[in-house]
Amino acid sequence: MTQTFSLSATTLFGLEEILAEELKSLGAKDIRVQRRFVEFSGDQYLMYKANLWCRTAIRILKPIAYFTLHEEDDLYREIQEIRWDKYITPQSTIAIDSFVHSSIFTHSLYVSQRTKDAIVDQMRDEKGIRPGVDLKDPDLRLNLHINQNKAVLSLDSSGDSLHKRGYRIQTNTVPLNEVLAAGILYLTGWDCNSSFIDPMCGSGTFLIEAAMMALGRVPGYYRNKFGFMRWLDYDSGLFHGIQDEAIKNERETLSFPIEGSDVNRKTYQIACKNIQNAGMEDYIQIQHKAFEEQTPPPAPGVMVMNPPYGERQEVDQLREKYIRIGDVLKSKYKNYSAFVFTGNLKEAKNIGLRTTFRKELFNGAIDCRLLKYDMYAGSK
Ligand SMILES: C[S@@+](CC[C@H](N)C(=O)[O-])C[C@H]1O[C@@H](n2cnc3c(N)ncnc32)[C@H](O)[C@@H]1O
Repeated sequence: MTQTFSLSATTLFGLEEILAEELKSLGAKDIRVQRRFVEFSGDQYLMYKANLWCRTAIRILKPIAYFTLHEEDDLYREIQEIRWDKYITPQSTIAIDSFVHSSIFTHSLYVSQRTKDAIVDQMRDEKGIRPGVDLKDPDLRLNLHINQNKAVLSLDSSGDSLHKRGYRIQTNTVPLNEVLAAGILYLTGWDCNSSFIDPMCGSGTFLIEAAMMALGRVPGYYRNKFGFMRWLDYDSGLFHGIQDEAIKNERETLSFPIEGSDVNRKTYQIACKNIQNAGMEDYIQIQHKAFEEQTPPPAPGVMVMNPPYGERQEVDQLREKYIRIGDVLKSKYKNYSAFVFTGNLKEAKNIGLRTTFRKELFNGAIDCRLLKYDMYAGSK
């Protein structure tokens, strides 16, 4: 009989409900949406599946201890209560990510060090050898959350953040986080069966994520490493079965276009390389072209763009750009659902069209909006 346990998937602000839907479709139970994470329960099969399948998850965590702290020393004591030989050998390496919001502790680095001490001291006392620390590529990554006096310690089954899909070999200066891009695609409601265009595609994140969604390709397709693969209880047969099943169910062709363009030659070349590296040349067409010159594929369809926010641009130029976005949408994107994702809320007003949907999201620390414009055939 498979054992069921608590799990938690972390995500970006604003994508919690979407992640909950993804988890539900994979068979997760007891789903509870929290701020920037979703709690659920499942078994090892679901934990592997969530790592491979969730487009909007950053990490899948498996909590192993919940405790209350009254003073600093309680942390060391509580960590030593856990039987660590269940999870690591004396030869293993570990890393601890700590997130602390508490008056008992102020430094997350100190919390990580005390946790590490408690683990390696237990192993040394019992086996005579201390496990090592490897912050970049450990055998076991742990995640410790302390909120006031409540602590949750979890095994990080993802290892590297799941936004690192593995298809990006080249970046320009400001590529979108892949989890954010996938979340935005879900928010557009695109049916994965009609035209899709990103006419300011940058490094191609929306295009590659869109093609993956349309093909039914799992976001973990290009990754060969997940944290759980180095756990003592790793069941490689189970995981490879899930992988094979996912690949078997992919679509082989798309009967609608996924197109992109960018005005900057170097950026366009970077996008070409990323698309090639993802093996998506047959599904995505891109051009080195200005948005204003681009003719979109036949409607109906979805257009998503992430125009410059203005950090490196003249204010007047930026204003002009946003005015032109509105003009081009009106003249060329009839019967499209058009979405603009921007961190420049002031300039976004210059688009001059009525939004039919707005969603607050963050790109790193930048407060952004996803804005929707329904471009009807008759003028609106
Ligand atoms: C914020 S970046 C987009 C980043 C992209 N979403 C990614 O994930 O890499 C904005 C992009 O718009 C492009 N751009 C600016 N003005 C443009 C125009 N008029 N036509 C086409 N592309 C334009 C820039 O070259 C830049 O690559």
